[in-house]
Amino acid sequence: MVSSPSFATFVFLLLVIGGTSRPLYPLPGKGDDGSRKSLQTFRPYNIAHRGSNGELPEETRQAYMRAIEEGADFIETDILSSSDGVLICFHDVTLDETTDIANYKEFANRKRTYEVQGVNTTGFFIVDFTLKELKTLRVNQRYSYRDQQFNGKFQIITFEEFINIALHAPRVVGIYPEIKNPIFINQYVKWSDGKIFEDKFVETLQKYGYKGSYLSKDWLKQPVFIQSFAPSSLVYISNQTDLPKIFLIDDVTIPTQDTNQSYWEITSDGYLDYIKQYVVGIGPWKDTVVPVVENYAMTPSNLVARAHARNLQVHPYTYRNENKFLHFNFSQDPYKEYDYWINKIGVDGLFTDFTGSLHNFQEWTSPNRQDDKIASELLHKIAILVSPFD
Ligand SMILES: *[C@@H]1O[C@H](CO)[C@@H](O)[C@H](O)[C@H]1NC(C)=O
Ligand SMILES: *[C@@H]1O[C@H](CO)[C@@H](O)[C@H](O)[C@H]1NC(C)=O
Ligand SMILES: *[C@@H]1O[C@H](CO)[C@@H](O)[C@H](O)[C@H]1NC(C)=O
Ligand SMILES: *[C@@H]1O[C@H](CO)[C@@H](O)[C@H](O)[C@H]1NC(C)=O
Repeated sequence: MVSSPSFATFVFLLLVIGGTSRPLYPLPGKGDDGSRKSLQTFRPYNIAHRGSNGELPEETRQAYMRAIEEGADFIETDILSSSDGVLICFHDVTLDETTDIANYKEFANRKRTYEVQGVNTTGFFIVDFTLKELKTLRVNQRYSYRDQQFNGKFQIITFEEFINIALHAPRVVGIYPEIKNPIFINQYVKWSDGKIFEDKFVETLQKYGYKGSYLSKDWLKQPVFIQSFAPSSLVYISNQTDLPKIFLIDDVTIPTQDTNQSYWEITSDGYLDYIKQYVVGIGPWKDTVVPVVENYAMTPSNLVARAHARNLQVHPYTYRNENKFLHFNFSQDPYKEYDYWINKIGVDGLFTDFTGSLHNFQEWTSPNRQDDKIASELLHKIAILVSPFD
């Protein structure tokens, strides 16, 4: 069919026109008037969960840079606060699991027990350390079965430093920050201007120019999804910003952080109808979408269909390459798992610990037309097609 004369003539004409006036395709790095390559929006988002934390210690500059190199659409982070009110990127409210805090004699007397979401928790709490003190610590890999050689090398970073990593990426890379443990943070950290954690979170985004609703011109320049497990935080900030928000949903046994509502309540039709006024999507734990029994993926729930019926996106978490996380149905093959979630379940974004794997899968199965590589391959194909007419 490619040899039909009309097609060949068409291609030939395109080449002649292209040759005399403008290039057929943007040249490498020169797309969009020299500005950066834009965010892809035609296939599910590759969300780099805590950076490329499958390879490097989570939420560090190095993990985020790696994720950007590997093709992340969004870099994901958890926002907490230091005792002096600086927003930082860190997942746990305690430093014990993922830093070298245990080695610091000067901090040995800082161990505390606080109630966190109804559970008495003991450890070294972020909210008892100033930013300066946090910066002296180094981050460790969370899981023993992942590469340990970078332990003790990288610093904790601030929300502002995180934003700057995204803004200085060689192409448009979005950010996906979580308002983490807002009840706990507001209980232990006070800001002198009377503002609360959520205010500071939104102010930081605004300071760096993040604005606009989902897919607006402003948003596409600096894409961001704001995420939280706390519905009242999302509703609260909806008065301050129209940036898109994602409501995170935990395991079926875990109630919401702030309103103590059950999983069944917050995934009911009535609740989805309510929350869709404030959010553009939900971020469910993936086992609630596809229940797992004895490491086999069972029949999917209807959550995705009910969310899509309300025009809500679905971004499940978390995809991990290691055998222990791959259900037997997928033959220990993360690509098979991605194929299932993208092409059968039809999700709109995926939180992954291995951005590179998801990126490769998507490039092979639904390549990014913006990519220079793809463009030059096309040019090559066209050159072969028209060569008989030269
Ligand atoms: C936490 O510990 C305090 C002090 O021992 C106690 O009063 C409180 O009931 C405990 N909370 C929970 C949730 O166990
Ligand atoms: C949002 O603003 C409106 C109007 O000022 C106010 O009535 C409402 O209580 C605010 N909502 C929240 C969640 O702060
Ligand atoms: C949350 O709800 C559960 C179930 O309704 C109830 O047993 C529990 O006491 C509630 N917890 C709080 C902190 O309100
Ligand atoms: C996974 O395998 C189990 C056991 O054979 C089967 O019941 C289930 O339907 C499979 N799940 C998927 C998603 O194919």
